[in-house]
Amino acid sequence: MNQNKFYVTTPIYYVNDKPHIGHAYTTVLADVLARYHRSLKVPTFFLTGTDEHGQKVEKAAAARGIPPQQHCDETVVRFQQLWEKLGITNDKFIRTTQPEHKAVVREILQELYDRGEIYRAEYTGWYCVGCERFFTEKDLVDGNCPECGRGVSAIQESNYFFRMSKYQDWLIQYIDSHPDFIQPAFRANETLGFLRRELGDLCISRPKARLAWGIELPFDPDYVCYVWFDALINYISAVGYRRNDEEFRRWWPASYHLIGKDILTTHTVYWPTMLKAMNLPLPETIFAHGWWLTGREKMSKTLGNVVDPLAMAEKYGVDAFRYFLLAEMSPGQDASFSEEAFVTRYNSDLANDLGNLLSRVLKMTLRNGGVVPFPGALQPEDEELNTAVLTAVAAMEQALKVMKLDQGLGAVLTAVRAANRYLEKTAPWTLAKKGETERLGTVLYTAAEALRKFAVLLEPVMPEKMATLASALGADGTASRIAELGTAGNVLSGKSVREVGSLFPRVQLEESVAPAPAAAPAPAPAAPAPAATAELITIEDFSKVQLRVARVLTAERIEGADKLLRLTIELGAGEIRQLVAGVAQYYRPEEMVGRSIVVVGNLKPARIRGVDSQGMLLAARSGKELRLITVDGDVAPGATVG
Ligand code: ME8
Ligand code: MG
Repeated sequence: MNQNKFYVTTPIYYVNDKPHIGHAYTTVLADVLARYHRSLKVPTFFLTGTDEHGQKVEKAAAARGIPPQQHCDETVVRFQQLWEKLGITNDKFIRTTQPEHKAVVREILQELYDRGEIYRAEYTGWYCVGCERFFTEKDLVDGNCPECGRGVSAIQESNYFFRMSKYQDWLIQYIDSHPDFIQPAFRANETLGFLRRELGDLCISRPKARLAWGIELPFDPDYVCYVWFDALINYISAVGYRRNDEEFRRWWPASYHLIGKDILTTHTVYWPTMLKAMNLPLPETIFAHGWWLTGREKMSKTLGNVVDPLAMAEKYGVDAFRYFLLAEMSPGQDASFSEEAFVTRYNSDLANDLGNLLSRVLKMTLRNGGVVPFPGALQPEDEELNTAVLTAVAAMEQALKVMKLDQGLGAVLTAVRAANRYLEKTAPWTLAKKGETERLGTVLYTAAEALRKFAVLLEPVMPEKMATLASALGADGTASRIAELGTAGNVLSGKSVREVGSLFPRVQLEESVAPAPAAAPAPAPAAPAPAATAELITIEDFSKVQLRVARVLTAERIEGADKLLRLTIELGAGEIRQLVAGVAQYYRPEEMVGRSIVVVGNLKPARIRGVDSQGMLLAARSGKELRLITVDGDVAPGATVG
């Protein structure tokens, strides 16, 4: 990637849609990338906006009895207000109805037409009267409308076509020789699969008789431009193409077009061939992320299963919501959204780990004069924590390069947990009691510095909370960029800390939104959610739980209990037990047999639905998914875990 500048885009969303978590995700991801690059001192341009032409807008406006432009002007604010609320730092918001954009689209159309890249032809297609939509032969399902299944009628039309087909071989070659161009790599294969079939020319016009709400073709006033041809051009019209050469050369080609996988073809086939015809370089990377699902279905307005990002941000805070979106989705894969998973992650990562660390450091420092001390000689455990912090810095920088922000955040949280353990090990409260002032100073300083660096690392994701954290440590206005983390030296010694209240107060899932409870109360199948208080347990507490490896010998359903399986397990030394597990909705009996699982061996026996259960198995739950905890490799039954 070109390190001299960073130009990142989101799709321009259909102005008609009500923004949901899916739209929020792409935009927050772009925002976080933009903020990280600014923090790394890379000149950054971040573009988002709305796609305002086309049939849906025309129809929605007609239904309201107002002109389409007025409809757009009224609905675009939903996006603009949401982005403001979510702390989105886009440098520009483009609307495709802006005169500057329309003029550039028309110039491009005229030039391509003059050069013979666009031609006119007769064209047969299919029209569904019910849906008022036009389809090509290959859109049809069994000869019928792909939307409603009703019959379609053939219509003959003249239209304008872009000679996309002539770039087919070139594009295949380009994708093959530029492994970064489409990410993740399996999406490149998807595009190549598409390109191996015959690629037709692209119909880029719509007769006004069918659709009037679009950019008029400069060479034929009876037609408007196809909405995708218009929309894709936003990525260059927004940065001065044909208007400001200096600006354009500064930002183009884009570093990243972030998109969802739903619009892969338009971005990886139409757009590159359009750019090629314009003799422009292609974007460095088109990154297609997965879908946010509700249960197993894509979250979409049409399916009526959307989660309102504004409501989430209002209920739990903007920063926690941003954090969840990035930590929970591995870019490229789908992720399931549930409020339950949100609350679990919030309480464990933010309330327990990070929030707790801050409150301990603040409390101890306030009790000892309220000023971050100067450190004495470092001990191995201090060095160890410093190393853990530097490892997190490196991991985050690497994660940014390969678009694995979830892993970068995971690395930071690992270091946060190391800092909590450090405080347990060094026990500053005991040092204070014993009057070991110098050692106490070193410990408080080391922990405070670690926290300051966490704040810098997490600032792009949680800007407001991390500003509060930094100011609690007296670090406002000090070096606060990732670029400076390796070199900034001692920033905090001598600075006064201040109480800021609980950074991430624990939250509880309200009854009404909680998903169906686990199968049986005693042997709940999932690993327990973090304890209801922020209290930490000692290793002795933990050692009371005997975790052991067990092999599943038999598994069967339990009559009348559709969530439960009855298992017999072998626990080593010939010990066989029966166990009831609430996994029947996730695993079939035959999938369980032969597995090495992890069970709590010393749980009081319970009777569940009339069946005795001696123990409980461990499983991980995320939203509506549940996966068994198993052991990696061959371990004999009975082996202890811990
Ligand atoms: O396609 N999960 O706009 P659009 C994750 N105007 N991301 C999702 C999502 C989900 N369930 N649902 C939507 C358009 N998105 C065109 C784009 S670009 C030149 C023109 C996000 O309003 C994701 O980024 O339908 C997806 O690609 C985009 O919203 C589609 O937004
Ligand atoms: Mg869509």
